[in-house]
Amino acid sequence: MALDQPLTIGPLQVSPGVLLAPMEDVSDLPFRRICRELGADIVYTEFVNAEGLLREDPTGPRRSYHKLDFHESERPLGMQIYGASELSMEEATRIAADRGPDLIDINCGCWVSNVALRGAGAGLLRDLPQMRQVVRRVRGATHLPVTVKTRLGWDADSIQIVDVARMLQDEGIAALTVHCRTRAQGHKGTPDYSWIPKIKQAVTIPVILNGDVTSAQTAAAAFQDTGCDGVMIGREAIRHPWVFREVQHFLPTGSHLPEPTLAERVTLCQRHLDYAIEQHGERYGLISLRRHFAGYFRGMRGAAALRQEMSQEKDLPRLRARLEQLIGEADLVAV
Ligand SMILES: Cc1cc2nc3c(=O)[nH]c(=O)nc-3n(C[C@H](O)[C@H](O)[C@H](O)COP(=O)(O)O)c2cc1C
Repeated sequence: MALDQPLTIGPLQVSPGVLLAPMEDVSDLPFRRICRELGADIVYTEFVNAEGLLREDPTGPRRSYHKLDFHESERPLGMQIYGASELSMEEATRIAADRGPDLIDINCGCWVSNVALRGAGAGLLRDLPQMRQVVRRVRGATHLPVTVKTRLGWDADSIQIVDVARMLQDEGIAALTVHCRTRAQGHKGTPDYSWIPKIKQAVTIPVILNGDVTSAQTAAAAFQDTGCDGVMIGREAIRHPWVFREVQHFLPTGSHLPEPTLAERVTLCQRHLDYAIEQHGERYGLISLRRHFAGYFRGMRGAAALRQEMSQEKDLPRLRARLEQLIGEADLVAV
């Protein structure tokens, strides 16, 4: 099984290969730092629209450009870009590569209509010659390793992932991540891991499994049952960012770590808040943390009310004071 081997992407080697998934509005710089500290081996930016990056007014807010901001402690870091046009993707690759990531990832898996129905993301699964063009241009625009993240296919009747993997390997990509669902499934239904061994038989590049890896056991089973070279974790990282630490501990030892204590939970939340304020400033920093409170307070007595209270708080010193107070509160012990 591939657990014995490090995950090798170009010059990068990580072991055993437990990655944070790119997630729009979630995998921003502060959250990526948190996940790296908790054991994610590679982290990815949110997807960045190639056209957006090219068209952005340098004197304006530069939302796309700032999505490519990163902190040195995040390395190894992948920047993910998406687009339907090979020319825009080529140019966007140059801009992204200039920012100094460790790899460039091409999104060929986004299922949402305003991306996929415009020929980008999973839309490229319906036009494989165009996918090839995009990958070729991106590869030609950088010396960094180029990886692809995609899905099994557009729908259950058009799964061509084994041929897609061969084609992408021929185009020189350094690794392939497969979200084991079709575009038609969105995020619903059970991911079908049985494609991973078939892909592994067809190509020599590393294959990273994605979809419903939610615990140390599911990660271990994914490695053992499919021979994948790495696993990528998305939604569970929002729910429980400690999942990386747990997987990293469990894979070599077979034993579980104790659950994070209340103090650890609140301390991590405080650290995330500090990073968020540093990166986004006070207003958006507070907003960006809202979607994470549920994860930090999960399992505590009164968690729902606490999350609501914290999400509504607009005053930073008051929020900080409340978090300090929580650490000392006995009635909010884990249940
Ligand atoms: C809120 C959210 C945002 C996402 N944004 C992206 C993205 O920007 N790029 C991408 O490749 N996938 C994106 N995804 C898909 C995830 O990377 C991942 O493939 C999917 O959630 C399945 O993995 P999971 O079951 O571990 O969550 C997103 C998923 C969610 C839930």
